[in-house]
Amino acid sequence: MRGLIAALVLWAAPVLAQEFSTLKGHGGPIMGLAVSPDGQIATASFDNSVGLWDGRTPTWLEGHDAAVTAITFGQQGQLVTGGDDFAILLWDQETGQGARIGQHKGKVTSLALSPDGSFVVSGSWDGSVMIWPLDGSGDPLELPYPGAGVSAVALSENAKDLYVATSQGRLLAYDLTDRGTPNVLARHGFGINRLALGPGWIAYGAVDGGTRVLDLKTGEQIRDFTLDRRPILAMTYHASTQQIAVGDGEGYIMMIDAERWRISHDFRAARRGPVWALAFSTDGAVIHAGGIDDLAYSWPVAALDSFDAEMGQERSFLRDAASMPNGERQFMRKCSICHALDAGPSRKAGPTLHGVFGRNAGSVDGYPYSPILTGSDIVWNDKTIDALFDEGPDHYIPGSKMPMQVIAKPNDRADLIAFLKEATQ
Ligand code: HEC
Repeated sequence: MRGLIAALVLWAAPVLAQEFSTLKGHGGPIMGLAVSPDGQIATASFDNSVGLWDGRTPTWLEGHDAAVTAITFGQQGQLVTGGDDFAILLWDQETGQGARIGQHKGKVTSLALSPDGSFVVSGSWDGSVMIWPLDGSGDPLELPYPGAGVSAVALSENAKDLYVATSQGRLLAYDLTDRGTPNVLARHGFGINRLALGPGWIAYGAVDGGTRVLDLKTGEQIRDFTLDRRPILAMTYHASTQQIAVGDGEGYIMMIDAERWRISHDFRAARRGPVWALAFSTDGAVIHAGGIDDLAYSWPVAALDSFDAEMGQERSFLRDAASMPNGERQFMRKCSICHALDAGPSRKAGPTLHGVFGRNAGSVDGYPYSPILTGSDIVWNDKTIDALFDEGPDHYIPGSKMPMQVIAKPNDRADLIAFLKEATQ
C-alpha cells in the first residue's frame, strides 16, 4: 500500500513540475504578447520597447516613442508592432531595426497581418482602419469610416473578410475585395475591446464584460460566456486545440473549449490588476500572459487550476496607498510607472530620477531624450519640478515625450517634491 502511495506521488510530481515560468527584463507593464509560428515569444511594453525572447534572454527592439500596445507575428514570422506614438513598425529581427510602415493620427490599438504577408491592417483610436502594403505594391488604403475609434481588427484566413470592433460597440464586417461600406454584424451596448476569429464564428469581449460568440454569416449569437467581470481586455484563439483564452480587468483568465462550447478553466491569474495580453504557445499547451507587472507569465494550460494568483504582486504602486505618506503616494501613483529612483540602469519609459535635484535637464547618460530636453537649459530643482507639474509638461517643455499631467493641488506638489528629495539621493 505504501509503495502504491509513493508511486502515485511520483506519478503526480511531473505534472506539477511543469511549472509556471516568467520572462523578466521589461521596465514597465506588458501590454501585448505574440508567439511566432516557430515558437518565439515577443512582448510589447509600456516601457516603449519590444522584447524578443530566446528562452529567457531578451533582445530589445527600440524604435517606438511611446508605449507599445499592439503586436503580431505573421505566418512567415514577420513581426509588426503598433504603439501610443501612432506608429506601425515592421522589425528586421536580425538587425533589430524597425522600419516605419505606417502612421495613424491616434494610438494604434490593433494589427492583423495577411497570411501571405503582403499587407498589414491596423486600427486606431483616431477612427481609421488602414491597409499598409508590405510588398511595395503601392500606397496605403483607408477603409470607409467605422463610425468610432477602432479597438480591434481580425482578418479571415483567405484575407478577404475583415472584422472591426469599435469603442461604440459595433462589430463590422468589411469585404476587402470591394472595400465598400461595411455590414454591421452586431451592436453591443458598450465598447467592444477584443475579437477572436474561428471557423464560422467570431468571439468578442467588451467593456461591460460581455463575452459572446456569433455566427459569422448571420451575426446570430451562438453562445454567451459573459460573467460578472469587466472589462474584457485580452482574447486569443488557438486553432488546432480549439481553445479561446479571455483575460479581464479583474485578473482572471477564462479558457473556453470552442469544440464543445464550454468553459474549461476559469483561472485567477492576478490577485490585483488586469490581464492585458494573452498568447498561446505554438502547440497550445502553454498560455502566456501580461499585465501590470514588468514580467510576462507562462502557465501550462492543463494544470492551470493548480496555480495561485501570481500576477499583480510586483508593482509597488499597487501597495496599500492609504498607509503611505502623501508624497510617496503621489510618486507611486503618478510617476513610478515611468521613473526609477535608483542609480542603476533602468528600462522604464522615462529616465531615472536618481540625483535629479541640481541636474541639467536631459543629462542621464544613455537615455534617449527628445532633442527639446537635451537642448534645454533647465536645471531641476524645487521650483522647476513644481512648475513642470503646475503647468504640465506639455506647457512647460512643449515637445517633450513626457505625457500631459498636471498636479493641481500645491500641497500635493510640495509633498511629492519633499519625497523626491529624499528618495532620489
Ligand atoms: C508615462 C510615463 C511618464 C510618467 C507617468 C511620468 N514621466 Fe517624467 N518623463 C517621462 C519621459 C519619457 C521623460 C523624458 C522626456 C523627454 O525626453 O522628452 C520624462 C522626464 C522627466 C523629467 C526630466 C528628467 C531629466 O533627466 O531631464 C522629470 C524631472 C520627470 N520626468 C519627473 C516626473 C515626475 C515627478 C512624474 C510624476 C508626477 C513623472 N515624471 C511622470 C515619462 C513619464
